[in-house]
Amino acid sequence: TTKIAVFASGSGSNFQAIQESIERGELNANIEVVVTDKPNAYVVKRAEKFGIPVFAFSPKDYASKATYESEIVKILKQKAVEWIVLAGYMRLIGDTLLTEYPNKIVNIHPSLLPAFPGKDAIGQAMEHGVKVTGVTVHYVDEGMDTGPIIAQRAVEVVDGNREATEERIHKVEHELYPKTLKKLFENK
Ligand code: GAR
Repeated sequence: TTKIAVFASGSGSNFQAIQESIERGELNANIEVVVTDKPNAYVVKRAEKFGIPVFAFSPKDYASKATYESEIVKILKQKAVEWIVLAGYMRLIGDTLLTEYPNKIVNIHPSLLPAFPGKDAIGQAMEHGVKVTGVTVHYVDEGMDTGPIIAQRAVEVVDGNREATEERIHKVEHELYPKTLKKLFENK
């Protein structure tokens, strides 16, 4: 059983998809802790519902990224966390975490990277008028949504309909992320 931490800043639907995959016995992992930089995010409620510990912090309470990341590292080490899974964590990962978890941090992004990195990738894709966008799972490095690509899936845009497009993308994310994690943890 691979011990993981899920980092999230928002709704946490990907967190939930991973947890449900674990509970169905498909993904042999355990979410030791959910880490969030947004103490009021809905992901906190979801985690509580599943009885998973949460570490919620406000970056403004810390002098620097290195300071709060050191605190996070302490918690992850206490829990013997092996992999960090970013699921809508809207913050760059700094040197402290990258050094402690080399090649053990992954992210999911709602576009076919390198297209549309950063915030609101779905809005960016709609704005640009692309007909196909998608989902990418990749290793995390110091950049924003950069790092070696592990898996991608294409998703057709529903013309002029952001909500419907978003729904398609999330559905693909919820399948692709647990499936990709399974392969990574089984070292395939
Ligand atoms: C997901 O669509 C994820 O791909 C995206 O945030 C959303 C979080 O949703 N991540 C990024 O944009 C990273 N740059 P969730 O909180 O419901 O899982």
